[in-house]
Amino acid sequence: MTKIIQVENDLSVLDEAAEALSAGQLVAFPTETVYGLGASALDEAAVGHIFEAKGRPQDNPLIVHVSNRDMLNSVVKSVPAAAAQLMETFWPGPLTIILEKSDLISHTVTAGLETVAVRMPNHPAALHLIEKSGVPVAAPSANLSGSPSTTRASHVIADLSGRVDYIIDGGACLVGLESTVLDMTGEVPQILRPGGVSLEALQMVLGEVRYEPALQDAEKTPKSPGMKYRHYAPKAELLLVDAGEEKRIEEFLNEAKEKGNKTGVLCCTRHPYDAEYVVPCGTDAAAYAHSLFDALRQMDDWGVELIIAELPADSGGIVPALKNRMLKAAGGRVVSDVVETRAERI
Ligand code: TXA
Ligand code: MG
Repeated sequence: MTKIIQVENDLSVLDEAAEALSAGQLVAFPTETVYGLGASALDEAAVGHIFEAKGRPQDNPLIVHVSNRDMLNSVVKSVPAAAAQLMETFWPGPLTIILEKSDLISHTVTAGLETVAVRMPNHPAALHLIEKSGVPVAAPSANLSGSPSTTRASHVIADLSGRVDYIIDGGACLVGLESTVLDMTGEVPQILRPGGVSLEALQMVLGEVRYEPALQDAEKTPKSPGMKYRHYAPKAELLLVDAGEEKRIEEFLNEAKEKGNKTGVLCCTRHPYDAEYVVPCGTDAAAYAHSLFDALRQMDDWGVELIIAELPADSGGIVPALKNRMLKAAGGRVVSDVVETRAERI
């Protein structure tokens, strides 16, 4: 049985779930990025249950969420000065930092690695839950492995009801895409997954930062185990078309209509597409990021067979993260008259 708790002004409604968390149960909770599926990072059996509940491959390590600096210090070997500076600037917030792990963190959490990913989420319910439980909380995104991440409690209920002990309903997640994963264990800091904190923002603090090569070259093996899997995919076929190529989209819509395919459009321009299912995702990238996963799930709920999604034209900020998720969800394919490499897209 899964118990659902609504977040209220008085966060003590979460104390029961916090206690369950420290006792080894699974609790799905909201963060500012996406919902997380939490277990005590100090309880190997509980962490094992996360992998079972999601159907997650064992070789994909989890992020350890903390609510204060003492908790952070207990899970890592040390905090280098540059990492401390990042925490000062971006925590609580959508930045996950990879550091050397301490002995407290088992290889079940890190999938055998000597490093651990750590993050302090910027959400009052998440922080209260972790603080009250008194344990660092290992949590991947709270979706079935391979599906779009969950940005509303209703998504979590659809994927994980009956598989977890608690689901905390904190409404829609603000950012809508996952955190930036930054590896601070090498000579030059590397972004393993673009996310809520941009490359430019990190460069302001650190100077030199780069995307890890595999993010821009599909032939290379990603350093972050999670990045090699097909991810975020709706059940429908997803076709990405550059925003601005309205004619193309209209052609696809006509073709689909002739074939009798149920078709939907995700759009970020004001173009009025003649399709039965249209989800306007906002004309700025932050709004698109906020609604992407919700829109993909909505299309599946409608039974849409083909989704045509406009790929935003701008760059910088959240755009690389948005394009990364869209490309992964579409299996890397973009239909375009303009021949571009993946490098140019990120
Ligand atoms: O916003 C987020 O990051 C959300 C919320 C819940 O915090 N969490 C999330 O977790 O997206 P997950 O498990 O879906 O993605 C974690 C990513 C994966 O790509 C994983 O491979 C990578 O982080 N990762 C975790 N630990 C790592 C490590 N030690 N080295 C390299 N990559 C790591
Ligand atoms: Mg995930």
